[in-house]
Amino acid sequence: MKKENILKKLKNKNIDIILLDLVDSTNDYLKQLAKQGVQENTVVIANSQTQGKGTRQRKFFSKPGGVYLSILLKPCLMGFDATLITSMTAVAVSDAIEQISGKKPQIKWVNDIYLDKKKVCGILCESVISSDGKTNYIIVGIGVNLFKPTSDFDDSIKDIATYVFEEQNQNIREEFISLLLENFFKYYNTLPKKSFFNKYRECNLVIGKKVLIDSVTEALALDIDDDCRLIVELPDKTKKALHSGDVTVKL
Ligand code: BTN
Repeated sequence: MKKENILKKLKNKNIDIILLDLVDSTNDYLKQLAKQGVQENTVVIANSQTQGKGTRQRKFFSKPGGVYLSILLKPCLMGFDATLITSMTAVAVSDAIEQISGKKPQIKWVNDIYLDKKKVCGILCESVISSDGKTNYIIVGIGVNLFKPTSDFDDSIKDIATYVFEEQNQNIREEFISLLLENFFKYYNTLPKKSFFNKYRECNLVIGKKVLIDSVTEALALDIDDDCRLIVELPDKTKKALHSGDVTVKL
């Protein structure tokens, strides 16, 4: 894979790409680079990870076949909303999957993408806050099972994970990464307009379903508001807007 092939298809020329074969975690690698002062819009892409991180300290399956990438953002606004960036990223990745394969993914609030009721992508947005409380930078980590993993999925996830393509193909991989980055920066550069929002809501598979929040609280997912918060109704009929949380839904 060549970074020139990815970059030449991008309108935004202000992006720096670092390609790695193997890394512990692209998020952690980029965090170190950010401390050293690399530019905003630096993107680290790896073929596999030894310590791929998921949300809630979970491991993320990161064997060859997937696309594991992290994007460095340096928003200077106070209180920049990680929920919004995660949701926006989910739409950017869904669009790229649809553009490259014609398949229509669904989004599971807040950070998972599904194909045929199985997870195909996870997003981990980490923000690093400076001592004065202003957000210093945000690292958006995206893991997509683009191809069937050469060594197959681990037993623990093989019934709940899927991939976009059966056969590995470097041209498709480059094209997919270009599409993903193009979509990502298109939405990011117009974030206040929230032009991704309608799609985020329409493609979300939780609305109207019974969900389990953080493995304990049963609720009915009513809607997603325009701050991308999940509106749920609790058993006592009170309503709550969730910014984040682990939501399980029976598919
Ligand atoms: C999840 O599903 O819980 C989120 C998974 C996020 C995985 C990506 S892969 C690239 C980046 N580097 C990491 O260590 N994690 C994210």
